[in-house]
Amino acid sequence: MVPLQQVTVGMLAGVIALVLFSTADAQHGSWGYTGDSGPSTWATNFPNFCNGQKQSPIDVSTKTATQKSFQPLNFKGFDTPPADAQMRIKNNGHAIQVDLLSKTGKTDNYQISGGGLPGTYNVLQFHFHWGSEHTINGKRYDAEMHVVTYNAKYPSASEAAKVSPDGFAVLSVLLEATSKTANPGMQNIVSQLSNVQNKGMNYTYPTSFSINSLFPADKANYWRYMGSLTTPKCNEVVVWTIFKTSLKISQAQANALKTSCYFNPAGDQEQQPLNNNYRPTQPLNGRTVFDSSNTSGVPQLAPTVLALFIALLSSTALQL
Ligand SMILES: *[C@@H]1O[C@H](CO)[C@@H](O)[C@H](O)[C@H]1NC(C)=O
Ligand SMILES: *[C@@H]1O[C@H](CO)[C@@H](O)[C@H](O)[C@H]1NC(C)=O
Ligand SMILES: [Zn+2]
Repeated sequence: MVPLQQVTVGMLAGVIALVLFSTADAQHGSWGYTGDSGPSTWATNFPNFCNGQKQSPIDVSTKTATQKSFQPLNFKGFDTPPADAQMRIKNNGHAIQVDLLSKTGKTDNYQISGGGLPGTYNVLQFHFHWGSEHTINGKRYDAEMHVVTYNAKYPSASEAAKVSPDGFAVLSVLLEATSKTANPGMQNIVSQLSNVQNKGMNYTYPTSFSINSLFPADKANYWRYMGSLTTPKCNEVVVWTIFKTSLKISQAQANALKTSCYFNPAGDQEQQPLNNNYRPTQPLNGRTVFDSSNTSGVPQLAPTVLALFIALLSSTALQL
């Protein structure tokens, strides 16, 4: 006969293991863009914070956006790659991502500031969704690039993710397959897709390229709102900047994104095509979307012109 104590201890260990496992599973639970782990399950599986009130992405309604003038955005390291920069592209099973590494451990190689951002932000990585996550007046673009940054006043990105709404800033570039020729910046990504076909694969670039090559020329016009990370746990810590001018890529480049990448859903060995890796748009819930319009100095002149016009009207009225 097996002593009762042994059975109990053994069973208890089993139960504890089971509980620990399921807790871990719920916390780091698998999520994806299809089926049982798709975006419609995130709010339930990740109640902190995917069922919040300030979620991303959103549909930007350009007619209801509020005009606001911002200082120019500043970009550090975007034109010419810093000397000790190292870029590594990888397939993380959810997206294709380029990590911005430093051979000497620097965190401030690439930074953004200005543009109404509440601080200076260190750039971590950029990655791609196809199709786009944000939609503009209901229009979904072929793809969207997110440049993920965290507020340099925090010691690390994970600290920044815990706290206030100013923890992260994400720059969004919408990609549109309307160019007859391949976009040279995008070609840096497309040309390496065969090296990162499956989840977990990565490739370190022998030479870093200019991040600016993936941006539109006009970086003064954008939409701005407060939202969240668009993947679990959906932390509501992001100042969003969505550039109005899209990056024009070729249809072949868009197709390469859509057909070259694979992932293996939890528990499955088999790799499946990774596509439509975007979260549907979330309710605005009363948030303001700002329109940074900066068209040839018109915003600055407007009050003067209006004053003159009113003055003219009044004097005309008096004469009547
Ligand atoms: C507005 O545009 C002008 C001309 O392109 C530029 O010099 C200025 O820096 C821009 N302002 C902002 C706030 O981006
Ligand atoms: C990159 O891939 C190698 C295998 O080729 C792997 O050992 C390594 O952990 C990967 N690194 C990252 C950061 O994914
Ligand atoms: Zn993203």
